[in-house]
This record gives sequence, C-alpha cells and structure tokens, in this order.
Amino acid sequence: MKPIAQLVRAGALAALAAVALSQTAGAEHAYVGVKKCKACHLKEFTSWSETKMSKVFELLKPGVAAAAKTKAKLDPTKDYTKNASCLPCHTTGYGKPGGFVDLATTPDLVGVQCEMCHGPGGTYIQKENMSLQNKEYKKAELVKVGLVGQIGKDTCVNCHNSKSPFFKDFNFEERKAKGTHEKIPLKYAH
Ligand code: HEC
Ligand code: HEC
Ligand code: HEC
Ligand code: HEC
Repeated sequence: MKPIAQLVRAGALAALAAVALSQTAGAEHAYVGVKKCKACHLKEFTSWSETKMSKVFELLKPGVAAAAKTKAKLDPTKDYTKNASCLPCHTTGYGKPGGFVDLATTPDLVGVQCEMCHGPGGTYIQKENMSLQNKEYKKAELVKVGLVGQIGKDTCVNCHNSKSPFFKDFNFEERKAKGTHEKIPLKYAH
C-alpha cells in the first residue's frame, strides 16, 4: 500500500496533467449546467424552461409517453433513465467532461440545456471571457474557447437524426422558431 501523501500527490499530478491536456487539446471544455447560465440570462432561462427540450429526461421514465414507445417498439414499462443509448440526446454533456453521469451524481444536468446548443461553458464563462466584468467581450474570442458561433442545423441534427427511435424529419427554420427560447436583443457590441 502506498502512503496517503504519495497517493494524494499522484492524484494532484493527474489532475494537473488533465488540465494541461484540456488546454492543449482545445476542444474539451467542461459542461457547467443551466444554473450557471440562469444567473445572468434569466429571461432566456424562463422561456427555455417552458420548451419541450428542457423536459426530455422525463420521457425516459417508465410509463411516460407509453403509446409512442409501444409504437416505436420500445418497452413502455422499462426504465430508460440509465440507458447509455438514450442518454446522449436526453441529457447535457453525457460522457463528456463535467457532463451528465447519472441522476444521483448530476441531477442538474438532465434535459437538453443551453450548452447543448451554445457549447460547453466551462471556459467561455470565465471572468476574462463572458462575464459582468467583461460585458463587451469579443465573440470571436469566446468561439475559440467553446461558444458555438452560429447555431445552424448541424447543431440540432446531433440529436434530430435517424438514431432517434422517434425521428421523422427536421425542418430547421420551423423548429428553431418553435423550440428554442424567446430571443432577446443583445445590449452590447461583440
Ligand atoms: C456572469 C454572467 C454570465 C454568465 C454566468 C453567462 N453569461 Fe452569457 N452573457 C453574459 C453577458 C454580459 C452577455 C452579453 C449580453 C449583451 O450583450 O446584452 C452574454 C451573452 C451570451 C450569448 C450571446 C453571444 C453572442 O455574443 O452572440 C450567449 C449565447 C450566452 N451568453 C450564453 C450563455 C450560456 C449558455 C451560459 C451558461 C453556460 C452563459 N451565457 C452564462 C453574461 C453571462
Ligand atoms: C440521436 C438522439 C436520440 C437518441 C439516441 C434517443 N432519442 Fe429520444 N428523441 C430524440 C429526438 C430528437 C426526439 C424528438 C423527435 C422529433 O420531435 O422529431 C426524441 C423523442 C423521444 C420521445 C418522445 C416521442 C413522442 O412522440 O412523444 C421519447 C419517449 C424518447 N425520445 C425516448 C427515447 C428512448 C427511450 C431512447 C433510448 C432507447 C431514445 N429516446 C434515444 C433524440 C434521441
Ligand atoms: C435548442 C437550442 C438552444 C437551447 C437549448 C438554448 N438556446 Fe440560446 N439560442 C439558440 C438560438 C438558435 C439562438 C439565436 C442565435 C443564433 O441563431 O445563433 C439563441 C440565442 C441566445 C442568446 C442571445 C440573446 C438572445 O436571447 O437571442 C442567449 C443569451 C442565449 N441564447 C442563452 C441561452 C440560455 C441561457 C439557454 C439555457 C437556459 C439557452 N440559450 C438554450 C438556441 C438555443
Ligand atoms: C441534445 C439533443 C438535442 C439537440 C442538440 C436539439 N434537440 Fe430538439 N429535441 C430533442 C429531444 C430529445 C426532443 C423531444 C421532446 C419531446 O418530444 O417532448 C426535442 C424536441 C424538439 C422540439 C419539440 C418538438 C416539436 O416540434 O414540438 C423542437 C421544436 C426542437 N427539438 C427543435 C430543435 C432545434 C431547432 C435544435 C437546434 C437549434 C434542437 N432541437 C437541438 C433533442 C435535441
């Protein structure tokens, strides 16, 4: 058995290595969850909360949407909330850094949250980026650290595709108007 101090040091070094890796790799920004975004974007949050996409985790529970599940040849009595083949599209950041693990560990990361469309916020909501101290951030700088610059059809078809047992079709403009949240004009230039 290794002494505790040595184990702790090994753990700290591994964590440092992970940080270094995430900085060099660039792409792996952590998910932070909707509560963080809500603090500064209450209007978008309130509007988003009323959309179907904020509630999609419920659909995985037994007895919910039973008729639709039967029709899609799924078992309506089964609990799909731990099913790895459903979670990527019904939670936020499943299997990614900071993302959904399971209901007990990450209860605040259920549903299709902000970051599934806007990108994982771990880096772009840091003080030097999008913050109250830096309201006039340059958008191009934030895009370099994980913010999605232009939300297009490609963002949506990560989930709205034929891997979904319920996929029919996807008209981007129609669905964008119907399913995201109320749009509030920005105050500052970016
Ligand atoms: C500490 C406050 C703060 C937090 C936390 C925060 N934001 Fe922002 N965000 C801002 C400010 C300030 C602006 C600029 C607002 C303006 O120009 O009116 C902004 C702008 C934006 C924009 C517009 C980007 C552009 O320039 O086109 C998006 C999208 C956005 N935030 C998403 C998010 C998401 C998603 C989260 C959570 C992961 C989040 N924000 C967390 C303060 C915050
Ligand atoms: C590739 C992403 C993806 C996967 C994987 C996925 N879903 Fe979905 N699911 C969606 C999308 C997108 C919709 C909405 C379909 C639409 O409106 O076109 C949806 C809709 C649903 C609905 C609502 C259907 C209705 O008509 O009311 C249920 C229930 C559901 N999914 C359960 C599941 C279950 C259970 C699994 C795993 C066996 C699963 N999904 C896997 C993306 C996915
Ligand atoms: C299903 C995708 C989707 C989700 C989920 C989503 N947004 Fe958006 N958001 C958009 C789109 C689309 C725009 C319009 C900008 C564009 O077209 O690039 C937008 C614009 C914004 C803006 C710019 C100002 C405005 O209101 O137009 C902010 C800020 C923002 N979203 C914050 C949030 C926050 C906070 C959440 C979570 C509570 C969230 N969004 C969830 C798609 C989404
Ligand atoms: C992380 C996965 C995911 C992403 C990304 C995603 N969706 Fe969805 N979306 C879903 C799921 C799951 C449902 C099923 C909700 C239900 O049936 O209750 C859904 C439902 C919807 C609905 C409600 C169904 C209806 O037509 O009434 C609309 C609208 C929608 N999405 C639009 C969009 C748009 C626009 C984008 C991209 C800007 C997008 N979605 C991105 C997973 C996703």
